[in-house]
Amino acid sequence: MEYETPLFFHVMAYAADADRDVVDMVSGNPDWGSPDALAEGLHEYADLGGADFQYPPSDGLVELREEIAARRDVPVEQVLVTHGGGEANYLAMARALERDAGEEFLLTDPVYPYYPGKTTMLGATPRYVPTDETGQLDPADVRAAASEDTAAIVVTTPNNPTGAVYGAETMRELVAVAEAHDAVLISDEVYDHFDFSGRFTSALSFDSDHRIVTNSFSKSLAITGFRVGYAVFPPDLVENARSRHMLVNVAGARPSQYAVLHALRNTPPGYYEESRAVLAERIDRFTDALDAAGAAYTRPDGAFYVMARFEGFPGTLANVERLVDEAGVAGMPGEAFGDSRTEWLRFALVTPRAETAAERLAEYFA
Ligand SMILES: Cc1ncc(COP(=O)(O)O)c(C=O)c1O
Repeated sequence: MEYETPLFFHVMAYAADADRDVVDMVSGNPDWGSPDALAEGLHEYADLGGADFQYPPSDGLVELREEIAARRDVPVEQVLVTHGGGEANYLAMARALERDAGEEFLLTDPVYPYYPGKTTMLGATPRYVPTDETGQLDPADVRAAASEDTAAIVVTTPNNPTGAVYGAETMRELVAVAEAHDAVLISDEVYDHFDFSGRFTSALSFDSDHRIVTNSFSKSLAITGFRVGYAVFPPDLVENARSRHMLVNVAGARPSQYAVLHALRNTPPGYYEESRAVLAERIDRFTDALDAAGAAYTRPDGAFYVMARFEGFPGTLANVERLVDEAGVAGMPGEAFGDSRTEWLRFALVTPRAETAAERLAEYFA
């Protein structure tokens, strides 16, 4: 079997190896710092030793699952702590497939590249539903594409790469389509703390046995290296997911879970507000500079990516490497996100030098 390996690590390595200064806007590694309580939790953990350095419960530290359940207002039995949002998505997709109620995953175009990769790896078939130029998904298009072959509908809101945030009506409809076709809506909400529109609605708002919500602390606590995420499953889907998680991982990482729990309990809302404010400001400055460069772009309603299109410069891997070498800016090729944005490049606003990057782009394309 040939896996579709996402390009992120390749482009990051290419940028790191460049002979010149490069502004790295490739992947979503937040640069704005984690809350103080996270480091406190880690220090506290380091002194525990003994039994606390041994396996945690396979489905996650009990108190962490309880904290998540309370925050998301769901029964704790339905919460599984995972190795990041990445594993949460994998478990959700695997679980949807093993229901034997279809072999097709409806994905959006543009798509977060790990979904097609996981689809192929699991032996399912991807089917793409287009979004409009702002990244909005019309549930009627999903309904039209759905059939008895549909095992899952996989969506991201707020969206990577488009920055679209799906409103309540869209989410309600997506749950309804999943129910109508005996499929599962998998709603990946890892950017839920980064909604600038006020429109974000979690799929958890709609009670259903046909939806799984995945999430992560990678972005909200700026800890992509900690690998702590979670999924909320319907009651009849959770058990097999728990077993698969155990068979693959034995258990998750205890220090990370301990620190995340401490951070959740001791981080004031101001931390999240500040992160959003930093980003909102960056989005303004980056898009102003793109205006000056005469580029077309999408202004994100959520998450932290901007897609930009420069006349006569398609979003190929070769062009991304040229930009690294000749302009000193590293982004992701639009062609990595499906067929609909092959003319575009994606830039992650995870550097204080976003404005410098935009100025370099303006100069390069002048
Ligand atoms: C849409 C989406 N889902 C999942 C992930 C992976 O999250 P994690 O680092 O928690 O595995 C990312 C990371 O960029 C993402 O953009």
